[in-house]
Amino acid sequence: MAKQSAFSFILCLPTMLLLPLLSAAPNTPSLSSPAPATHFSARIRHYNHHLSKLHKLKPSLSVQRDAVPTDARVYHVTSYGADPSGKNDSTESILRAFSDVYGSTSDLSLIGGVRNLGGVQINLDGGHYLISRPLRLPGAGVGNIVIQGGSLHASDDFPSDGYLIELSPSPSAAPKIMENNKVMNSAEDASLSSSTSYNYEYITFRDLLLDCNYRGGAISIVNSLRISIDNCYITHFATTGISVRSGHETYIRSSFLGQHITAGGDPGERNFSGTGISLVGNDNAVIDVVIFSAATGIFISGQANIISGVHCYNKAAGFGGTGIYLQLPGLTQTRIVDSYMDYTGIVAEDPVQLHISNTLFLGDAAITLKSINGVVNGLNIVDNMFSGSNAGVAIVQLDESKSAFKQIDQVVIARNNVKGMQVKSTIGSAEWQGNGTSWTVDFNPVLVFPNLIRNVQYSFRSTDNGFPKHMVRNVSDNRVVIETDVAVSGSVYARVDQGQS
Ligand SMILES: *[C@@H]1O[C@H](CO)[C@@H](O)[C@H](O)[C@H]1NC(C)=O
Ligand SMILES: *[C@@H]1O[C@H](CO)[C@@H](O)[C@H](O)[C@H]1NC(C)=O
Ligand SMILES: *[C@@H]1O[C@H](CO)[C@@H](O)[C@H](O)[C@H]1NC(C)=O
Ligand SMILES: *[C@@H]1O[C@H](CO)[C@@H](O)[C@H](O)[C@H]1NC(C)=O
Repeated sequence: MAKQSAFSFILCLPTMLLLPLLSAAPNTPSLSSPAPATHFSARIRHYNHHLSKLHKLKPSLSVQRDAVPTDARVYHVTSYGADPSGKNDSTESILRAFSDVYGSTSDLSLIGGVRNLGGVQINLDGGHYLISRPLRLPGAGVGNIVIQGGSLHASDDFPSDGYLIELSPSPSAAPKIMENNKVMNSAEDASLSSSTSYNYEYITFRDLLLDCNYRGGAISIVNSLRISIDNCYITHFATTGISVRSGHETYIRSSFLGQHITAGGDPGERNFSGTGISLVGNDNAVIDVVIFSAATGIFISGQANIISGVHCYNKAAGFGGTGIYLQLPGLTQTRIVDSYMDYTGIVAEDPVQLHISNTLFLGDAAITLKSINGVVNGLNIVDNMFSGSNAGVAIVQLDESKSAFKQIDQVVIARNNVKGMQVKSTIGSAEWQGNGTSWTVDFNPVLVFPNLIRNVQYSFRSTDNGFPKHMVRNVSDNRVVIETDVAVSGSVYARVDQGQS
């Protein structure tokens, strides 16, 4: 049986794909493996041989879509009456497929009794399907499932607080995000964080286009473990594209999210709303993802998430957009690396352990440190590139509207290269000339925090014949004052640091 199903699978592949598969028999060099050039003609013969064999083989076999054996665990939604033309409502049909998947047998288990369904597949058969209410499995406690290969479209009456797919045994209403970006967590969240068992483990969403039709969101994942979202295109969400709450290890990879389908410079950009990805949980990863339209690209309020290779051009900062919003005051533990903030920036509330590096900030995109209780500790903003329009925008800005930063420690903002924006750093250095008994330099233009110089190192060079005594007299207000006991002319080099105590 297994052989037969593999065979029908192979026949669906285009010829060119098939050849490397056939030629990969033991001891046969595969076409894709590196081989000396002298073997090339032998390989061409080998190729032609297989090609002619294949041509003889092909007419003798009819290609049928339903050649999958009955005990294969690939559930085709079209076999359940789902309409791949997207005209008729397919909610009930797809839910029946979900139900059969949920009911499929397995004696194996994953974490905490989650039933291991062996990699059972829900196949959307390359169609687009109209959905009028959220798709959920009938219950919790299953894993090792793949959902792949097609498009879901929310109908005009799809619930505006629902998600097309909800990995949650009960409705998971979209969190309300208020104007100031605060998430209104429901009472459910409080109970979830104390729960010890997971709803789902190892469920993969692959090659899906999810169109929310400006009704609700696309995928909601609640209290689940090791969920993968791979090569998905998520659009027209009104609330949140992908919402992750509790649980951990949701990996969102190689995917595209945008409320409106645009490639930048959209005339309606001012009106973009919603959030691309919301991570209200720990230990998740967003890798190689583009967010091309949303008021907030990624909203994070859980620790130990990593953002890598992400391109945010969701809504320009000038129009009120935010690329990445970190709402974890006091314990941030977030890494943002190798990313691309394109006209939209990063906002971090009271960052404690935050690392931002190797990221390109384009079009005056900047980082804002927003004080909640005045704490910033363990912050690295290093080795990034900033490029702007010479409008004097600072690469790192403080929002002290709520309170001033008072507890500042282990902050390193340095080694960023900057073009057309104002450099800001926790380290400043300067050399200046003087003639007299007092040398003053103002480091305010470069230092991030006001009135904070922890260390000064300096050297004094007299250019006349004087041999004065000299010392640092004052570092208040980020101004370094060096004084000598007698008037001399000379120069001073000083380096100041406000980060380390
Ligand atoms: C759509 O629904 C109509 C009415 O129930 C039915 O006649 C038609 O066959 C359905 N089309 C598809 C493609 O399922
Ligand atoms: C943005 O929204 C406002 C208010 O809803 C509307 O008047 C305006 O036409 C919209 N602008 C664009 C460019 O869509
Ligand atoms: C320093 O000041 C003295 C007196 O004001 C002046 O004569 C001298 O040229 C100055 N030296 C330099 C290097 O400016
Ligand atoms: C240092 O300079 C500030 C003004 O910038 C002044 O208020 C303060 O008194 C000075 N401190 C000393 C020790 O001279």
